[in-house]
Amino acid sequence: MAQHPSENGFRAFRVAKKHAESDIITSFYLEPTDADPLWDVKAGQYITLRVPVADGHVLKTYAVSSDPSEAGHYRITVKREVGTGGAPDGVGSCWLHDQIAVGDTIDVAAPRGVFYLDDNSPRPVVLLSGGVGLTPMVSMLHRLKDSDRDVYFLHACDNARVHALRDEVMAQANDRIQARFVYRMPEDGDQCDATGVIDKAFLQSVLPIDDYDVYLCGPVPFMVAMYGVLQDLGVPKARIAYEFFGKAASLDQLVSKAAPAKVASAAASKAAPTIQALTFLTDPDAWASADEKPAPVQAASQGQVRFRKSGAFAEWDGSANSLLELAENAGLEPEFSCRSGICNACKCTLVSGEVAYFEEPLIMPENGKVLICCSRPKGAVVLDI
Ligand SMILES: Cc1cc2nc3c(=O)[nH]c(=O)nc-3n(C[C@H](O)[C@H](O)[C@H](O)COP(=O)(O)OP(=O)(O)OC[C@H]3O[C@@H](n4cnc5c(N)ncnc54)[C@H](O)[C@@H]3O)c2cc1C
Ligand code: FES
Repeated sequence: MAQHPSENGFRAFRVAKKHAESDIITSFYLEPTDADPLWDVKAGQYITLRVPVADGHVLKTYAVSSDPSEAGHYRITVKREVGTGGAPDGVGSCWLHDQIAVGDTIDVAAPRGVFYLDDNSPRPVVLLSGGVGLTPMVSMLHRLKDSDRDVYFLHACDNARVHALRDEVMAQANDRIQARFVYRMPEDGDQCDATGVIDKAFLQSVLPIDDYDVYLCGPVPFMVAMYGVLQDLGVPKARIAYEFFGKAASLDQLVSKAAPAKVASAAASKAAPTIQALTFLTDPDAWASADEKPAPVQAASQGQVRFRKSGAFAEWDGSANSLLELAENAGLEPEFSCRSGICNACKCTLVSGEVAYFEEPLIMPENGKVLICCSRPKGAVVLDI
């Protein structure tokens, strides 16, 4: 049941249109039921939906796939997640597909997320997606159509039957905006630019030598593969922004698990490994960097963090982005899911000290509790982990 507008950060939205984009993907156009304007959304951000279940509700997040400048509605584009091998169907996606119709209302929380287009960058852009991971890219593509940046929209999926928003993407193509589609299992009559998977050779054939901002989203194996290939091609990590549609993780860790250290051993220079492996992409700025460490995060203040249960200590020295990351770097494995202040899975007891949120939790935890995925310590802190 939809809540009163703005209750607990949620507003009621009415489904104004439901449109099948492919055999398995459907778009929902959501309009606020109140008279207030839409919340601002940056191209690439997602909204959170409250999905009713037997004993309450669960929160599900969906990227806004529409042009962020469109007034009056957000569009989300959702893949139906069907259970296989006896597993239950996906709760949120099947609720949307099977039970939600035009005229129904849904509780929606404001757009959030740090995976959004950097409007201030002058660099050309690669929007690289697999499967339903194209949704934030389509929003970015709309945002980029009025810029003067070159854009390469590269999308991989199985075939035309499951390819969503193809016509909309093609409609944006021009001298500056190129779209290429790669089908893994094309069917008779399907039109695509290549078959199989996106690989190094394909990227080299499509992307001229340049210094790109890359945005990456898709199934985990796709992202792991692309992250490796991009670095193989000399794209610095700092130029690759990515978003997981499932449990958030670090691509660095996933890539190192999938393919342990494949560094260009022949390179004699002290350049960063990405630069040593440079084959056709260039990044003039990266020559100046001695290694690949990201710029230190500015903490609210320095201090020691103690993890009481495990007995571990860690210094807040700018090497981690959040308390969760600090704990993981210290070898701990705290619970987490969204890593962005939505699900409360990372909630833990703050034994002493204070934290500051760099992303405001959707639901602020009760006194004495903190969400460690979106907070940093203010001085010395003790957590019950
Ligand atoms: C930032 C962000 C943006 C996103 N944007 C989009 C988007 O634009 N479009 C989109 O389609 N999705 C998007 N997602 C994914 C979306 O949030 C949901 O995760 C997705 O719809 C699946 O949720 P669900 O409730 O349908 O499935 P869940 O109920 O969470 O189940 C997930 C999968 O697990 C299977 N499963 C369930 N129970 C079991 C079990 N016991 N054993 C084995 N398997 C099981 C289900 O069959 C299903 O395939 C996004 C996610 C994030 C984090
Ligand atoms: S992991 Fe979801 S709120 Fe922290």
